[in-house]
Amino acid sequence: MCGIIGYIGKEDAVPIIVDGLKKLEYRGYDSAGIAVLGYNGFDVVKQKGRLAILEERLASRLLENKPLSGRLGIGHTRWATHGEPSDINSHPHVGSKNKIAVVHNGIIENYKQLKERLEHSEHGVSFASQTDSEVIAQLAEHYYSGDIIDAVIKVSNAVEGSYALGIMCIDEPDTLVAVKKDNPLIIGVSDHGNFIASDVPAVLKHTNKVYYLNDKEIAVLKEGKVQFFNMDKEPLKKKIETITWSMDSAEKGGYPHFMLKEIMEQPRVLRDTIQSVFNDGKNKNVLDSVNISGYNKIVITACGSAFNAGVTAKYVFEKLCRISVDVELASEFRYKDAIIDNKTLVILVSQSGETADTIAAMREAKSKRAATLSIVNVVGSTIAKETDYCLFTAAGPEIAVATTKAFSAQLVLLYILAVRFALKTGKLTHKEEEAQLAEIASLPDKVKMLFEQIDAIQKYASTCVGYKSIFFIGRNIDYAIALEGSLKLKEISYIHSEAYAGGELKHGTISLVEENTLVVALSNCERLYGKIMSNAQQVISRGAKVLFIGNCPRDDTESEKLYYINLPKAAELFSPSLSVIVLQLFSYYVAANKGLDIDKPRNLAKSVTVE
Ligand code: F6R
Repeated sequence: MCGIIGYIGKEDAVPIIVDGLKKLEYRGYDSAGIAVLGYNGFDVVKQKGRLAILEERLASRLLENKPLSGRLGIGHTRWATHGEPSDINSHPHVGSKNKIAVVHNGIIENYKQLKERLEHSEHGVSFASQTDSEVIAQLAEHYYSGDIIDAVIKVSNAVEGSYALGIMCIDEPDTLVAVKKDNPLIIGVSDHGNFIASDVPAVLKHTNKVYYLNDKEIAVLKEGKVQFFNMDKEPLKKKIETITWSMDSAEKGGYPHFMLKEIMEQPRVLRDTIQSVFNDGKNKNVLDSVNISGYNKIVITACGSAFNAGVTAKYVFEKLCRISVDVELASEFRYKDAIIDNKTLVILVSQSGETADTIAAMREAKSKRAATLSIVNVVGSTIAKETDYCLFTAAGPEIAVATTKAFSAQLVLLYILAVRFALKTGKLTHKEEEAQLAEIASLPDKVKMLFEQIDAIQKYASTCVGYKSIFFIGRNIDYAIALEGSLKLKEISYIHSEAYAGGELKHGTISLVEENTLVVALSNCERLYGKIMSNAQQVISRGAKVLFIGNCPRDDTESEKLYYINLPKAAELFSPSLSVIVLQLFSYYVAANKGLDIDKPRNLAKSVTVE
């Protein structure tokens, strides 16, 4: 939640920061702001609303011959936690002495106590905003006595909660300082200047060389130099990493939305992710080294779509490995005093690797001595760094808030993990393992085949914008993927939606079905085709329309009430990778037909770093 960026260098910081904020807007978009440090002190432009409004403000400053400009600056895009979205609550925040400016991603839990202390201090600090973040700027000014690093250390020791901070001080105009705890921050270095940012895509245009800041490490950036310190002000040596993501991956590349671009990238993403476990490298090493025989229980824990990937994978693990798998929402798992021990393997699934609940679940698992294995997209993220084993999805940067390609990449890694565990525990022979892997390897081409039906999906979706409610049903693994279809639809189209196991309909939900309800029925389990089709008929006879997505031989003729989308044949266990593509495209086109802001759905943010 919230994206921060900062620049110090030879070039004008303003266009660099604005461009970086565009890449970070997925993290929050209810207000945006930028501050530069020039000859006359801080110049701040910030306001409620999307970044586009900030750009308009900057353009009018140019027209008025008062351009915002400077070689040191910080920027912020906000997802409000404390204090409503408003101009005054937008970042950057400047202390009341006008000495220190701050951008913050995170939550300061003890801000009220700190605020009261400052308000009642000798100099009676007066606060301008309702945010928790302003306390950082005020506190830093309070502590500042000629050395910004000392002030930052004192601030870090005083605040409780999570933070990634970019800090400028008027008395040290050649310095940009950053520090973090429990929220991500990278430091980018380029020929013309150095950067801080919440995420890599924000700096990719300028550099692929980054440092990942760890908790309670301080970065001090000058024009041609970056230094790191710990909280005792001792210098630290850090390893610079080279990012392999291309710059194109953070651009729309001609598509109207990132979401559509990311859906269309999936054949490549699946291929790269599958390859990554066979080519020498980190993923192969991890897969070879996890000793599944040492565990008698698997728990998968995650949030949102990543949780749905876990629910889907449960069917695969249980079928192939004959080991029982619990799937837990990370936000629940962290508080439930789970029955796990050193014989449990806890699998954490997270695109960002920074989801607060998933991090807490990981730490809970570790505190109970369970082994932890993560499936993560972002190299250098907290979950990737702290788990015992980490498999990386090769999805590249995912910009649209609604996940598509990262979800698909998570699924294939989970399939491969299950197949490998089944081999290691003797549940599959080498020959059977090869057959399963061949099925998985065939998925990218089948996804490509599916794209031939885009026009039909788009056309059908265009007839669905008027529904108030859409239900998704499936049985077994089709039910698992129905959960993801439903989540995708509701988050981007704002149409109410629920997913049910087909057999559950008659136990209550069917009372909601009436004339012109839409039910999306999934059917890739051939053995259960008859069952799901009779569910479909039950709702049709109560007035509903049915969109039937599946690969089973069908025996009901299409009608005004029943529309089919056929999927290429795939093994039942891996068929969710095909159904989900149709579900993503369906949701996308429903939302597109409603003219919604698909990449940035209201109230959401991509990286949920608060509880
Ligand atoms: C839905 C979506 C979210 C995320 C969830 C977990 O489209 O993107 O539900 O799946 O917030 O995020 P990560 O995977 O970053 O832990």
